[in-house]
Amino acid sequence: MDGQMRGMMRGGSQKDGRTSLNNPPMMREHHLSIMREHLEAVTEITGLVSTGDYDKASRTAAEKIGLTPEMRRMCDMMGDKQFRAMGIAFHQSADRLSEVLKKKDPTAALAALHETLNLCVACHASYRE
Ligand code: HEC
Repeated sequence: MDGQMRGMMRGGSQKDGRTSLNNPPMMREHHLSIMREHLEAVTEITGLVSTGDYDKASRTAAEKIGLTPEMRRMCDMMGDKQFRAMGIAFHQSADRLSEVLKKKDPTAALAALHETLNLCVACHASYRE
């Protein structure tokens, strides 16, 4: 176990440098439930690619994590401009993923999925509720 992990287990003595969104409780709950849906969506996409169901994987990417009007509305509600931009960029990457999945090429699909997941990780590194 490294020092950082030990620090975290001692109860957060490690400094958290992420920016807080300071969302009101209802918005926080709503945001976190959407986050859990995003995780479900990428899990579903991974499973569909593994069984060769690229068409369904493509639809899932566009409908569940793509830049739908609903997702754009959610991102627009976030007060932090930089956060909003990262959210939009993430949803746009999911639309690209949806397009790539139509090619039914596993290497290209993994590369596009990796790009999308990197944007999940980047935002989590910068922001917290
Ligand atoms: C634009 C920013 C942003 C993007 C993009 C993003 N997230 Fe999040 N996510 C957050 C924030 C902020 C939190 C709250 C973290 C905290 O308070 O510690 C969060 C929390 C979560 C949680 C915890 C939910 C809970 O119930 O506590 C999960 C799971 C999650 N995100 C999954 C994902 C996945 C999977 C993706 C990509 C497919 C993703 N997120 C993309 C900002 C983002």
